[in-house]
Amino acid sequence: MTKIFAHRGAAGTHPENTMVAFYEAERVGADGVELDVQMTKDGALVVIHDETVDRTTDGTGWVKDFTYRDLQSLHAGYKFTEQYSTCRIPLLEEVLAWISGTSLLLNIELKNGLIVYDRLEEKVIDLVKHYRLEPRVIFSSFNHNSMARCRQLAPTIETALLYMESLYQPWQYVRVLGAKGLHPYYRTVTESFVREAHLHHVRVRPFTINSEEAMNTMFRYEVDAIFTDYPEKAKQIKKA
Ligand code: G3P
Ligand code: CA
Repeated sequence: MTKIFAHRGAAGTHPENTMVAFYEAERVGADGVELDVQMTKDGALVVIHDETVDRTTDGTGWVKDFTYRDLQSLHAGYKFTEQYSTCRIPLLEEVLAWISGTSLLLNIELKNGLIVYDRLEEKVIDLVKHYRLEPRVIFSSFNHNSMARCRQLAPTIETALLYMESLYQPWQYVRVLGAKGLHPYYRTVTESFVREAHLHHVRVRPFTINSEEAMNTMFRYEVDAIFTDYPEKAKQIKKA
């Protein structure tokens, strides 16, 4: 049965990667939440998609150049209604503390492609272990070296490889990296690819599926999960 992951929380209806977006994911009955992690100048793990704060907050500059304290003064929901305008950028730890009191799955995307943050993998793993969330967490990244490193450091936590373009028979590649899942751009996914992945015991979780048509297609292909900005809509379509 295809699981539904709320992408950046319920990012279609709430400010992405904020606590209110994650609460909404739980409210609508999503199976899991997806979020992105970057690191501040003083080593805090923060939940934000971009390397800069420009698109999602009322500030400007690189996340890596802010202290955590300074980042807290930014408004991460300023584009939304007044109700959400003062949302802050959460710490990964805040989300993990909250998730541990729920039954949600959690996909943590390590944003270490453009900027290589020092010891990002070690820090994220330590926190996940602290909250004993290993069985409910999936690590993913477009940086496949980083996924190999996570696998080496924490063999019990599932890793998955993100990619944009088609990979030709990636089964050996997946095995060498110790990954359990492929997270492809959804337009590259075909029914036969999903079938073959499953024969190789590889899970397929495409991103980011927001239209009704694409949701129906992915459910028909029996992908293992979808990432969507609209988890409530996905739940309804899955039920229909
Ligand atoms: O994890 C799936 C998806 O989040 C990857 O793309 O750019 O939305 O982080 P992006
Ligand atoms: Ca992401």
